[in-house]
Amino acid sequence: MLSKKIEKLLVDQVNAELYSGYLYLHMADFYAEKGLMGFASWFKKQAEEEVEHGLKIRDYLHQENSVLPLAPIAAPEGDFKEPKEPLLLQLAHEKKVTALINVIYKAAREEGDYRTERFLDWFIDEQAEEEENALALIEKFELLGKEGQGLYLLDKELGKRE
Ligand SMILES: [Fe+2]
Ligand SMILES: [Fe+2]
Repeated sequence: MLSKKIEKLLVDQVNAELYSGYLYLHMADFYAEKGLMGFASWFKKQAEEEVEHGLKIRDYLHQENSVLPLAPIAAPEGDFKEPKEPLLLQLAHEKKVTALINVIYKAAREEGDYRTERFLDWFIDEQAEEEENALALIEKFELLGKEGQGLYLLDKELGKRE
């Protein structure tokens, strides 16, 4: 059984993951409005992944016989003007999520809740990847995205994400 503390942290994390999905959909909408359909599709896929993360934690809570009161999801932040802005916010946001995962991991370790610790291993790796990808996208944008033709090519490339 999970402690009340771990349970609460995990329930909050479900919300944080769904919020991430909401945030990335908001970014997708911004790009779609600008006609950057590759970026829009890339961020929609990113949003789907975040929802998956939330469901993964939800399933773990159920497996541990925990109830999951669903809290409201906040409206996504970010009034974007330039195509680079969501990319910067994405990196900052992923770093925040990493910090949240680390808090749960630390709490699980302190309580000797090894099962939760091991469950979170996947998320520790995933966050490393997410931060790396977010940074790589900023770097690519710096190289290609500033000019019209480069931006067009980058948009095309991002549209190919499976
Ligand atoms: Fe996530
Ligand atoms: Fe993420």
